Amino acid sequence: MTMNRRFFLGTSARAGLVLPFARALPVLAQEQVFAHGVASGDPLTDRVLLWTRVSGSSDERVAVRWQVARDSGMQDVVSEGEGTTGPGRDYTFKATAPGLKPGTTYHYRFEALGEQSPIGRTKTLPRDTDHVRLAFVSCSNLPFGYFNVYRRIAERDDLDAVLHLGDYLYEYPNRGYGDGTRFGRAPEPNKEITTLSDYRTRHAQYKTDPDLQEVHRLHPFVCVWDDHEITNNAYTDGAQNHQIEEEEGDWFVRRTAAVKAYFEWMPIREPEPWPSQRTWRTFRFGKLLDLIMLDTRLVGRSRQAEWGDVEGMRHPDRTLLGDRQERWLYGELAATKAAGIRWPVLGQQVMMGPMLDADGNPQNPDQWDGYETSRNRLFDFLESERIGNLVVLTGDVHQSWGMDVPRNPLAGYDPDTGAGSYGVDFVATAVSSPSSKLRRLGNEEAVAAEVAAELAANPHKQFGEAFHRGYCVLDLKPDRIQNDWYFVPTVEEKSDQQRWAAGIRVASGTQHGVRADGPA
Ligand SMILES: [Fe+2]
Repeated sequence: MTMNRRFFLGTSARAGLVLPFARALPVLAQEQVFAHGVASGDPLTDRVLLWTRVSGSSDERVAVRWQVARDSGMQDVVSEGEGTTGPGRDYTFKATAPGLKPGTTYHYRFEALGEQSPIGRTKTLPRDTDHVRLAFVSCSNLPFGYFNVYRRIAERDDLDAVLHLGDYLYEYPNRGYGDGTRFGRAPEPNKEITTLSDYRTRHAQYKTDPDLQEVHRLHPFVCVWDDHEITNNAYTDGAQNHQIEEEEGDWFVRRTAAVKAYFEWMPIREPEPWPSQRTWRTFRFGKLLDLIMLDTRLVGRSRQAEWGDVEGMRHPDRTLLGDRQERWLYGELAATKAAGIRWPVLGQQVMMGPMLDADGNPQNPDQWDGYETSRNRLFDFLESERIGNLVVLTGDVHQSWGMDVPRNPLAGYDPDTGAGSYGVDFVATAVSSPSSKLRRLGNEEAVAAEVAAELAANPHKQFGEAFHRGYCVLDLKPDRIQNDWYFVPTVEEKSDQQRWAAGIRVASGTQHGVRADGPA
């Protein structure tokens, strides 16, 4: 590789030489080379994954250098290295920065084509802690409006990590789901994305959003995909929005293209050996929590039953996780208990707590309700192994819900004490996608009335809301957790406002949520 003068900067800075750098560079050039920002992800106690993308070269190999420092001025460099990228991975670049200390904030930057990237901030996992804060989000749709939610999270300095629970982008053409023309946010290419080139172009466009860039720059992310990173209501062998007769091609070719682009463009550790599509993995935060990330979408999911087909939703052959991931999950939960970890936390896509209609029947076959046998096996395992304090974090539905997770909310469960509950499920609303209730009913009052009726039919739910977009913050301590919902007033214009909407507190050992008076 070509070593230019700037590539020696890190060494010189460590030796105490003060060289002019970022501010001496032309701003436009930095924005051109690092047009998609910087990101970090999948932190461990001693390492973190760094991500960027180099624009402006058509070379087969482009050298990229990275540095991690203790200070935001990048003087005290503690880890550095170099590698290459090229067209085979769409000029995206990942490196793992090793040799870091646990529970520590670091700063990082890249250098490529003679330019330096913006300086990012990240944090390693703690080895020993009695307090952790995680933000979690899902469903960021460019054509529905602005990512004000990402900006609010970027502004926070109280977070250990940000979880993205899927629908990081959407596959539709403009007006397929949202009209971006009025915001200058029409999706590119303007078609339903099906090929590797399509998926790469869509990822690249999302990563030009300044609010998205800022939240990635300032927090480490832990990401999993849901369906729209591939296509709507995907399952292992197909998807609602995949039609071979409309020349969308072979499902597995499309799925592999979407997954390849995802691994290229997201700050996620890539499974080895490729082409494994494994995203299920665990992050340990001292003795306080194990964050167990699941793939309920691609690796094991049987095709969904039809809406309202209660018998189909209960069919014993249906699986949500697949055998291999399900056995792995039980192993992880057993390991969490054996290690004396207080809170097992599942980061995943679809609502685990039941959602019953007025007749007491489950509704949505895309959620855990549609895979009742899988859910019952998990409950049986928790019961037989005496594992409590389960916390489930969910995205997907563009609605806010907080609930206990009983087998049946109407029998063998006490909504006053939580007796009969296996854990709690907190559902974050979307970054920008509207709820189906909002699209169908059109106004806040009608949405609120329908949510009120659903709360009445579901005594295990303590909170529900389906009008606002926003995010959640999960605050964990040994004796209790609290989940807080924050809402933004609009996504149709840029806004710097947010408000705390609700909180639910869970005392250790109860598996039962209680409404909180204020944020944690
Ligand atoms: Fe979504």
